[in-house]
Amino acid sequence: MGRLENQVALIMGGGADGPPNTGEKVAIGNGRATAIVCAREGARVMVADKSLALAEETVAAIRAEEGRAQAVAADVSDEAQIRGAIDATVRAFGALHLLVNNVGIGIGGNVLKTTTEQFDRMLQVNLRSHFLAIRYAMPEMEKAGGGAIVNVSSLAALRSNSMVAYEATKAALLGLSRSAAMTGARYKVRVNTILPGLINSTMVRREIGDREAQVAPRIPMRRQGTPWEIAKAVAFLLSDDASYVTATELIVDGGLSAR
Ligand SMILES: NC(=O)c1ccc[n+]([C@@H]2O[C@H](COP(=O)([O-])OP(=O)(O)OC[C@H]3O[C@@H](n4cnc5c(N)ncnc54)[C@H](O)[C@@H]3O)[C@@H](O)[C@H]2O)c1
Repeated sequence: MGRLENQVALIMGGGADGPPNTGEKVAIGNGRATAIVCAREGARVMVADKSLALAEETVAAIRAEEGRAQAVAADVSDEAQIRGAIDATVRAFGALHLLVNNVGIGIGGNVLKTTTEQFDRMLQVNLRSHFLAIRYAMPEMEKAGGGAIVNVSSLAALRSNSMVAYEATKAALLGLSRSAAMTGARYKVRVNTILPGLINSTMVRREIGDREAQVAPRIPMRRQGTPWEIAKAVAFLLSDDASYVTATELIVDGGLSAR
């Protein structure tokens, strides 16, 4: 029996936008791996993505291993579409228990090289979207008798690499999560944040390429993490194994932040 049996999960950004790794049939990023792992753990999964095609690829991967999933198009920078994804989940599966806010983009550079428009866009996609998804999902979770939310932040919330809008939004997400956890506690909804370190994800392969040789020596475990390692940490936080864990931050970084 899986750890998420009888649960309905909504994964925001559950597609994977980038090239596959050598040997992979389908490209795997944090969002797609999370959707697949949730289905393996027994959840019925709604995969939401601004690209319906990428969401459908995830659904196909889940169904290929007998999991249950559906896809919905939702651009998280649009409030109505966030609401639409939550409504679609409840219509399709009868309830909503679990939410993963995985969408995160990185635009702009350091504080002198980021335009106002870029900063505003980052707030909209990386922060406001998660606030809205939580605001609309939590009442549904209360109706379902409780639930769990995981927000995907980044080590960039704690350590700077001069990407001002990325770092500011990922750090603000920690505050958003803690505050939402205080409210959620009244409704049996746990809210936690995951902080991935350097992960060989679609986001990285698309924007940077293969950085393994370059970054591995800096990481105590001498390698990047995989999206599967992020997904399993997310599934732990979503599951009853983490039943007394809320308002906390789980760093998954091969020891990088401790160095
Ligand atoms: N790879 C790393 O090293 C690393 C490190 C720390 C944190 N993260 C975080 O992991 C998350 C992304 O990881 P991924 O591997 O799934 O990346 P990804 O770039 O493949 O994104 C996942 C999906 O999000 C979708 N998406 C993008 N903008 C959207 C929007 N406005 N509305 C709806 N969907 C949208 C994309 O279409 C894609 O299918 C981000 O939050 C990122 O900040 C990654």
